[in-house]
Amino acid sequence: MPSRIEDLLRRRSETQRVSEERARTLHEQGKLTVIERLNLLLDPDSLIPIGRYVLHRATGFGMELRKAYGDGVIAGLGSVNGRRVAVYAQDFTFMGGSVGEMHAYKIARTIETAVKLGIPVIGLNDSGGARIQEGVDSLKGYGDIFYRNVMASGVVPQIVAILGPCAGGAVYSPALADFIIMTRKSYMFITGPKVVKASIGEDISTEELGGAEVHASKSGVAHFVVEDDREAVNLIKKLISYLPSNNAEDPPFLETKDSPYREDPTLDSIVPEDPAKPYDVREIIGRVFDYESFLEVHANFAQNAVVGFARLGGHGVCVVANQPAVMAGSLDIDSSDKISRFVTFCDSFNFPIITFVDVPGFLPGSFQEHHGVIRHGAKIIYAYADATVPKITVILRKAYGGAYIAMGSKHLGADFVLAWPTAEIAVMGPEGAIEIIYKKELESAENPEELAKTFVEKYRNEIANPYVPASRGYVDDVIIPRETRAYLYKLLTFLMDKREKQPRPPRKHGVPPV
Ligand code: HXC
Repeated sequence: MPSRIEDLLRRRSETQRVSEERARTLHEQGKLTVIERLNLLLDPDSLIPIGRYVLHRATGFGMELRKAYGDGVIAGLGSVNGRRVAVYAQDFTFMGGSVGEMHAYKIARTIETAVKLGIPVIGLNDSGGARIQEGVDSLKGYGDIFYRNVMASGVVPQIVAILGPCAGGAVYSPALADFIIMTRKSYMFITGPKVVKASIGEDISTEELGGAEVHASKSGVAHFVVEDDREAVNLIKKLISYLPSNNAEDPPFLETKDSPYREDPTLDSIVPEDPAKPYDVREIIGRVFDYESFLEVHANFAQNAVVGFARLGGHGVCVVANQPAVMAGSLDIDSSDKISRFVTFCDSFNFPIITFVDVPGFLPGSFQEHHGVIRHGAKIIYAYADATVPKITVILRKAYGGAYIAMGSKHLGADFVLAWPTAEIAVMGPEGAIEIIYKKELESAENPEELAKTFVEKYRNEIANPYVPASRGYVDDVIIPRETRAYLYKLLTFLMDKREKQPRPPRKHGVPPV
């Protein structure tokens, strides 16, 4: 027996080994080894490996001689600040973290196990993509992973950190997950700069093509950008603290010293009197929710909208808002994608959705129309109407036209709609509206500017205010801004146990305008 145990111990020591030389290279690149990453992420001694002694079974291209226990990925179950998770972490030092048949098998099994156990999946990705030597077996492996990603979607949260290269088909498993965190040194693309040059003649650097900045601000592929591996792990821990472990649980409650009945008089003067003046909606969010509880998602992408997690009296909620400080808060293609995806995630995982509206409409123009603002904008309508979680909407200022309807209106199933006294709810803003309805009068007026002012005043008094929609029951209450936190908290405590009254018509699934 002792010799058998010695043999086992020798093999075990091989399963998580990264050579000193390889580790030094990674450290020089500002990266950590796979084991260092897992040690930072998981509670001490909590890792239970999946497929510890797995070996690839490829032949040819010298593969018989290139074997290592684990096949380039450490996978298993563990805990993060006491929360149970499933995790896999790719080891770039073994064949560039490339994904072969058995490497993929371990990742697929990890996701499958997470679904069975109802726990989040965390991926630490660092890979050159499909293992070239394994040909179609490698592609099959990716397919198996993608299938598990889709089956896990909306059942358990999936978080992926991109900590190195992520090329080719490797990008699609992260893209099927719920959140992507990229370090500044990482990159993601379908084809690298060399292939881009060869196929379409475009000269572009790795960073410009698929660096973290690009994906966080332009493509929207990345939800978060962090400096390095350590920051990525810290962010994963923070994100997990907001998320339920599965779709049958509520978001975790976190005791707070911030009284839910606190009133904030500053809120009364944040929205400027002049409707043309911008302000930062994040200031309102910061003052309404529990102190420093707002975790913004997609902060650099489509900044004309703001989405993120927050807590109210300790309860986890999702926050969606227009951002008047950017493009006057108008909705466009990217912000429609950002909002609709977030609303759908929040609905899947039982987060009440609190929406703050200040939106002049959808952005006009040929670029938006030709790139499908109709199709993308419809996603917001679909997502809100489809969501069955508690939905509370606060109209801060402008709520015009289709954008009013789309942004969590009563008509799409909001449970409660509140308005600040500054709210203007109408088909369009006063200036545009009077030019249409009083066209003849303005054309024939001696002093059109003076007359226009009178018409704008009339329009505001008779149409663009919160009391007209309130008189029809589309706004439940008009509140003083300082009361918002306490009001929302009281509503939330009632709506927590909301169940949809009307069963929906049976169907396999809807067909969202994706
Ligand atoms: C097999 C790979 C590999 C791969 C890297 N390696 N990528 N082995 N298959 N896909 C190996 C290298 O041979 C090398 O082995 C080691 O990993 C480290 O790679 P280096 O090139 O030395 O490192 P670096 O200079 O840092 O460059 C990393 C890299 C580069 C940018 C990722 O290796 C690269 O471009 N790899 C190919 C990326 C790619 O095109 N992937 C897409 C594959 S197609 P040694 O023996 O020297 O340690 C795909 C489609 C799948 O993924 C579709 C699924 C639906």
